[in-house]
Amino acid sequence: MGSRKKAKQQPVKRWPRVVIVGFGRVGGALARGLRKAGWPVSVLPRSQDSVRRAASSGARLADHDDLRAAHLCLLAVPDAQVANAAELVLEDLGPQTPLVHLSGALTLSAFGRAALDSRRPLGSFHPLAAISDPTDTFAGHTASLAASTPGLLKTLRALATSLSMHTLEVPETGRAAYHAGAVLSAGLLVALADAAVAALEHAGLHRDQSLEALLPLMRSALNGLSSRGFARGLTGPVVRGDVAVVQAHLEALPAEVGTLYRLLSRRTLDLVGGTLPAETTLALKRILA
Ligand SMILES: NC(=O)c1ccc[n+]([C@@H]2O[C@H](COP(=O)([O-])OP(=O)(O)OC[C@H]3O[C@@H](n4cnc5c(N)ncnc54)[C@H](OP(=O)(O)O)[C@@H]3O)[C@@H](O)[C@H]2O)c1
Repeated sequence: MGSRKKAKQQPVKRWPRVVIVGFGRVGGALARGLRKAGWPVSVLPRSQDSVRRAASSGARLADHDDLRAAHLCLLAVPDAQVANAAELVLEDLGPQTPLVHLSGALTLSAFGRAALDSRRPLGSFHPLAAISDPTDTFAGHTASLAASTPGLLKTLRALATSLSMHTLEVPETGRAAYHAGAVLSAGLLVALADAAVAALEHAGLHRDQSLEALLPLMRSALNGLSSRGFARGLTGPVVRGDVAVVQAHLEALPAEVGTLYRLLSRRTLDLVGGTLPAETTLALKRILA
């Protein structure tokens, strides 16, 4: 009889059972990502359309037993619906099952009176990622965490690790400022791209052609920031102290885009002003005021 090597016993990881309420962009992406990482996940979509999308994606639809057995319940619903969604599942969940929302702006008091009174652990898992489709991935992004108990914080860290995410802890009192920063870096960056495209359109170029040309430029600016930091990663006329060019831009731009340009150029000057001759900084300050 040939000798057969005994298969090495792999320790069986017991991931917490998760129920995700809502099967929209983030709910769908989380269900997909966690399932891939081996977590037992079931989902609770609301509309018939969401039920269909969930079923066709292969997600398991949660029943009463799933809710009763859940170790973690993620509320992947719009911020304004967090308290309603909590109320929807509260009776069916075990008394100690943590409720977690995914909002960047909301504190842990957003779950509503009944959830707060239930004294279960409460948390927030906010992915710093622009998820516009359930097939988007969280890998490489940061999840901002908040939790009312150390045990839940540990679970949320494990959740992030399984999705290949970094973590950050956000103080409850700084929630609104934190989220405003996140919005500035993502959604408002898209609005900035729209302003840049409007400037090129003003020059007579076509909108689609402009965006196609500007996107790689935007990526190269972000790459410069990523590899060289704020001051050394910056380029443009303010950095070069080119007063005449900045003046020409201000005269050429449509008024609304000009306002944005002025504000952001002042911010740029704050970053690099110390490296320019004093008279250049003064001249730039004057035309950007
Ligand atoms: N998208 C992002 O990039 C992003 C990033 C970070 C954090 N977040 C946070 O993630 C959460 C979800 O955002 P999202 O972008 O995934 O929203 P979304 O795509 O609009 O999905 C929300 C889902 O919630 C369901 N829903 C709405 N009200 C409900 C209720 N009362 N009970 C049960 N289900 C309900 C909707 O169901 P139906 O489809 O059946 O109507 C919808 O599928 C929000 O807190 C948001 O702040 C989003």
